[in-house]
Amino acid sequence: MVSFVDETAGMYAQPTQLIRHEQVAPGYHLLEFDCPQIAAAARPGQFVHIRVTSSWEPLLRRPFSVMGTNKEEGSFQVLMRTVGEGTQILAEAQSGTEFNIMGPLGNGFALPGPEGEVILVAGGIGVAPLIFLATALHEPNNYRYVRGLFGARTEDDLCCWLEFSGACDEFNGITEDGSVGEQGLVTDFLPPQLERGAGCLYACGPALMLAEVAKQCQDAEIPCYVSVEQQMGCGVGACLGCVIPIHASGTQRYQRVCKDGPVFDAQIVDWEAIRRGCTPG
Ligand SMILES: Cc1cc2nc3c(=O)[nH]c(=O)nc-3n(C[C@H](O)[C@H](O)[C@H](O)COP(=O)(O)OP(=O)(O)OC[C@H]3O[C@@H](n4cnc5c(N)ncnc54)[C@H](O)[C@@H]3O)c2cc1C
Ligand code: FES
Repeated sequence: MVSFVDETAGMYAQPTQLIRHEQVAPGYHLLEFDCPQIAAAARPGQFVHIRVTSSWEPLLRRPFSVMGTNKEEGSFQVLMRTVGEGTQILAEAQSGTEFNIMGPLGNGFALPGPEGEVILVAGGIGVAPLIFLATALHEPNNYRYVRGLFGARTEDDLCCWLEFSGACDEFNGITEDGSVGEQGLVTDFLPPQLERGAGCLYACGPALMLAEVAKQCQDAEIPCYVSVEQQMGCGVGACLGCVIPIHASGTQRYQRVCKDGPVFDAQIVDWEAIRRGCTPG
């Protein structure tokens, strides 16, 4: 397997062993990998790019947010939802299997300034990077009062809510079908949180949820940072396969999720174009 290290960029690509694999809900898997370099370097909001097989099919790596690190053990965790071929291969992998993993990649969340409480809004599998962020915000050096909102379709999709709520000072779980927690969309429960005021808000989840969160934050004049998902090719800024529309500045109409993101200031993203299903071109 190919292996390289770019220590100046703090990025590694190397054979990495899966050391723990637990199905935490139907279709959801917690994967822990042994990689002291990524465990030491990863910051909340960054992702790893995993080659799920050593054969040609599927050819492209798959991106996953880092959900947490264990620096003492030299490992990091990923929370994965099975959606297609690549994630199915990972879902069937046994502990001890080696994968070529590149990371940590992308720009993580900039930690908030000292003023105000922090709101975290997670939708579905978007909880993964926010668990890492909430944990970091409870470290003594970075401590902030954190209010977490986590919405998903059903109880099963509210996966790892205990890990998320345990890292927040206040927590609100919401399901669309009302199977657990409050019933509705996570964005239905955001207005009272914004009315209470906050220093800033971070969100990760489906694009339409992020668009609504961005709009509410803009109206409330609260800074908002979103972690965006997009299908990826190279993962390192070379192929332009992952761009999203942004409000034009000069001739620049797109930014790369892998290199310029995945975390963006919500106000620069062109949510209207995303709502219209605008594809880069
Ligand atoms: C920065 C980033 C972080 C991510 N973090 C996580 C995470 O922590 N946990 C997790 O489970 N998933 C995460 N994803 C999504 C994950 O990468 C995709 O679900 C995965 O690549 C799908 O691979 P597949 O081969 O199983 O699916 P495919 O067979 O490639 O596709 C199956 C279906 O999923 C859709 N899909 C594929 N890739 C993506 C994508 N990147 N974003 C949205 N839809 C996609 C396809 O359109 C298709 O409908 C992240 C994506 C990005 C860009
Ligand atoms: S995936 Fe190639 S530029 Fe982003």
